[in-house]
Amino acid sequence: MSAQIDNSILTYEVDSDGIAVITVDMKDYPTNVLNDKTVPAIISAARHAIADDNVKGAVITSAKKDFIAGADLKHFTSLTDQEALFNQVVEMNQGFIEMETGGKPFVAAINGNTLGGGYEVALGCHHRIAWNNAGYKIGLPEVTLGLLPGGGGTQRLPRMIGIENALQIIVQGQQLRPEAALKKGLVDHLVNDLDELVPTAKRWIKEVGTSDQPWNVKRFKIPGGEVMSPKVAQVFGAGTALTRGKTKGNYPSAQYAMSCVYEGCQLPMEKAIIVEARYFVKSLFSKEAHNIIRTGFFNIGKANKGGARPKGVDKFEFKKVGILGAGMMGAGIAYVTAKAGVDCVLKDVSQEAADTGKSYSTGLMDKAIAKGYGSAEKKEALLSKINATNQMADLEGCDLVIEAVFENRDLKATVTKETEAVMMENGIFASNTSTLPITGLAEASKNAENFIGLHFFSPVDKMPLVEIIMGEKTSDYALAAAIDYVMKIKKTPIVVNDSRGFFTSRVFSTFTNEGMGLLLEGTPPALIENAALDAGMPVGPLAVTDEVNLGLVMKILRQTEIDLDRKDESAAAKVAPMMVEQFDRPGKRQGKGFYEYPEKGKKYLWPELSNHFPTKDDHPLYEEIKTRYLTIMALETYRCLEEGVLTKGEDGDVGSILGFGFPIYTGGAISYIGYIGVQQFVENCDGFAQKYGERFQVPDSLRDRARKSEPVMA
Ligand code: NAI
Repeated sequence: MSAQIDNSILTYEVDSDGIAVITVDMKDYPTNVLNDKTVPAIISAARHAIADDNVKGAVITSAKKDFIAGADLKHFTSLTDQEALFNQVVEMNQGFIEMETGGKPFVAAINGNTLGGGYEVALGCHHRIAWNNAGYKIGLPEVTLGLLPGGGGTQRLPRMIGIENALQIIVQGQQLRPEAALKKGLVDHLVNDLDELVPTAKRWIKEVGTSDQPWNVKRFKIPGGEVMSPKVAQVFGAGTALTRGKTKGNYPSAQYAMSCVYEGCQLPMEKAIIVEARYFVKSLFSKEAHNIIRTGFFNIGKANKGGARPKGVDKFEFKKVGILGAGMMGAGIAYVTAKAGVDCVLKDVSQEAADTGKSYSTGLMDKAIAKGYGSAEKKEALLSKINATNQMADLEGCDLVIEAVFENRDLKATVTKETEAVMMENGIFASNTSTLPITGLAEASKNAENFIGLHFFSPVDKMPLVEIIMGEKTSDYALAAAIDYVMKIKKTPIVVNDSRGFFTSRVFSTFTNEGMGLLLEGTPPALIENAALDAGMPVGPLAVTDEVNLGLVMKILRQTEIDLDRKDESAAAKVAPMMVEQFDRPGKRQGKGFYEYPEKGKKYLWPELSNHFPTKDDHPLYEEIKTRYLTIMALETYRCLEEGVLTKGEDGDVGSILGFGFPIYTGGAISYIGYIGVQQFVENCDGFAQKYGERFQVPDSLRDRARKSEPVMA
């Protein structure tokens, strides 16, 4: 077998003590990743060390910031031949077995992110030493991408730390900071000083130098019990139920990973890796992995890098950002802006209201300190960036102002005019309106080209998406500024064209409307909620409507009726007034809505609900309800695409996943059509249209695609 050194991937040096140092440093890559070049290069270098009589042992480390950040997803998702991949994976694993049985000690000297396949390289070593730095992570996150560890991770980790502990890491896709990784046994030793990392690894080779893995020693027993021991058998029973409960069966790789551990841990390593390789290939070629990786990794990554930013506009550096309204949204916007290191002015009608808004940041920083990842200095630094005021004059010189006052057109027009009189000439004015079309609001501006929508989600500090809305006159200059700002605060932007409810609110309201429709159709409330959770939504439609508040839903519906001069016949237009006016149950804030919110304890569905909306024997069935939710949202998203509210399908996917929790295993609200199959999707819509009305009517262009079997997204 050849054992050449591939210098485009790593360097190989032997020191005067006969210790080889294999330093992974992929040329032309920003970070080290595992692909069809890295794996053979590492194995080849290992063979080189094993074959050289002058070498006592080897250290594997990295010259980049990360050790090895994981698999090269671009490479793996481009593969089409399942059998060829299976053979490649088995070959890689045989290489790791050679490394651990070659009779020489190997140590992983971990200096940065060591994830997925990267950690599996470390597991193939006899010892793992890590730099103690809270800025990086170690673990096996594959399941969160719809995959599972395919480089021996599901076999070595259980043999090393016990099946129960390993299952937690593997099935939940955990990534741990070095200290936690040491505690759980993922690494053996920490060094505080990075310069000490490789010397400590070398010392271990000289002083200890074990070259056997525990599982290759005679009479080895898995710590904590073998698969068939009563305790571990119980773990598998409970674990299967827990996994099913968490994934609702929508993420098959979690179940495959459990099967790998269960089946593989009863076999010798050479056979166990074959079991794992089969499941790995199965997961990689699953629709779920394909969807999660495409949207969750590539498309969100592209959006985060400002993929939609117009070319030719200089990058904006924000000197001073003004925020109008220190309510729930304004307070959150001030926090994320200050956190990004940008000075901001938080203005409300009274000093007291402005101070209350600023105290939201104080609260968040205090929480962070209590949890151990903040400090008094950081808190001070952040708070010093927020100037809470009731004086318009303080907005002087702002290059960006974000308006988050009450949802009232006249008020928004007034503050626009007042602000433009003092803010920087040619500055950008953004509205955080949740419903009012931007083009209309821009009429109050003296510079509609610089007027744009920046739609945040609540709570602002947690929600990763910002929907940027282009008014009819909004310029590329304003768009570039908005994208730069969203990137600065480390959120994900999507860009949409103006429309009532834009993209996210418009589509999301179809979900809550469907929930209320089901109530009118006599569906038991618990079924309405559970079907949504089983379909993969994070919250049921009734619970989320309580959070939004039925009072607000009513206001929006009424305003829309006035604006469009049309009576709203939707289920929401029937149910919301009943809940608010008849039963005085507007939502969570008031402690009563579709749910009861006891002061102590968990919320529960209002028991009277089924008296006011009596359950019928012929109510829609569970599986149909699940499909109905995802179908109505996907259909509305398709309409947004057709009408040009969305300019590309990717935005529909990214926006639906990050904005309102559309299940990621489908790839997002546009990809869902392909997930189901375009013909099947149209068939489902037709069935629903017949039963539930024209909101499920399929646009001609979509029917056309179904006829031609043309996918909406690849
Ligand atoms: P809020 O009622 O919590 O806060 C509004 C704040 O604006 C109040 O503190 C009020 O005193 C202040 N205000 C009123 N007139 C003012 C003026 N002339 N100058 C400065 N401040 C003034 O409202 P919230 O929830 O923060 O919403 C604000 C905006 O954000 C609305 O347009 C809303 O539609 C939008 N939005 C709300 C979301 C939510 O989940 N609450 C989500 C996305 C957008």
